[in-house]
Amino acid sequence: MKLAFIGIGKVGFALADNLQKKGHEIIMAHNDPESKSVVAAKERNPLFSILAVQAAVDAADIVFLATPFKVNEALLRPLSFRGKTLVDCTNPVGPGISHGLGSKISGAEKIQEWAPDAKVVKAYTIYGFENLEDPVFPNYNVRPVMLIAGNDGDSKEKIRQLNTDLGFDTLDTGVLSQSLHLEHMTLLWVKMVRAGGHSPHFTWGYLKR
Ligand SMILES: NC(=O)c1ccc[n+]([C@@H]2O[C@H](COP(=O)([O-])OP(=O)(O)OC[C@H]3O[C@@H](n4cnc5c(N)ncnc54)[C@H](OP(=O)(O)O)[C@@H]3O)[C@@H](O)[C@H]2O)c1
Repeated sequence: MKLAFIGIGKVGFALADNLQKKGHEIIMAHNDPESKSVVAAKERNPLFSILAVQAAVDAADIVFLATPFKVNEALLRPLSFRGKTLVDCTNPVGPGISHGLGSKISGAEKIQEWAPDAKVVKAYTIYGFENLEDPVFPNYNVRPVMLIAGNDGDSKEKIRQLNTDLGFDTLDTGVLSQSLHLEHMTLLWVKMVRAGGHSPHFTWGYLKR
């Protein structure tokens, strides 16, 4: 599939590089082809192409958003998605690793508000970028689980397929408003790893019977 990445820093690059190696075509969506992260990503993976943001959205089957949350409203409002799937990989983070929207509404629902003609799926936020570039755990016979949320079943099915390519099992947690709980899982993971000394390579598993 053709995948456009708005944001190709730590998270965007980890996902894009993993997916390119699984056979997907990666388009970096940035209006400045000389931006630091675009140049660095191109050096690390010369197979990535670059287009201005709206042109990349137009060309892509699926669009990933991996930007600082604070830039999202200004970035998204002028864009046209024409019903495409938009994967929200961003997290609103406030002071002291708190929820940046006061836990009143998820960042993903704000993304949907700012991009009303997109089909937003929340994914790839419950772990750090380290697990996105390498989600392989050879000593276990279960795969790490990626929790997702969204209102559109077809879009979630596409993300389920990309998760399989990346190396994750998928747990569909339900409608987009469930993203608030996923964003709190993010805060839990970040506090445990970035502040609490746990390994950045630990993941959650989904075991059932
Ligand atoms: N770091 C993690 O482990 C992690 C894990 C899960 C989720 N997240 C979330 O993922 C998002 C990205 O985090 P990150 O760590 O990958 O950040 P990062 O390394 O700083 O990368 C941010 C990317 O966004 C681009 N960008 C910034 N403003 C832009 C704009 N107005 N238009 C287009 N592109 C713009 C930057 O491009 P430039 O080169 O122009 O600056 C860069 O490519 C955040 O919301 C974060 O909370 C992070």
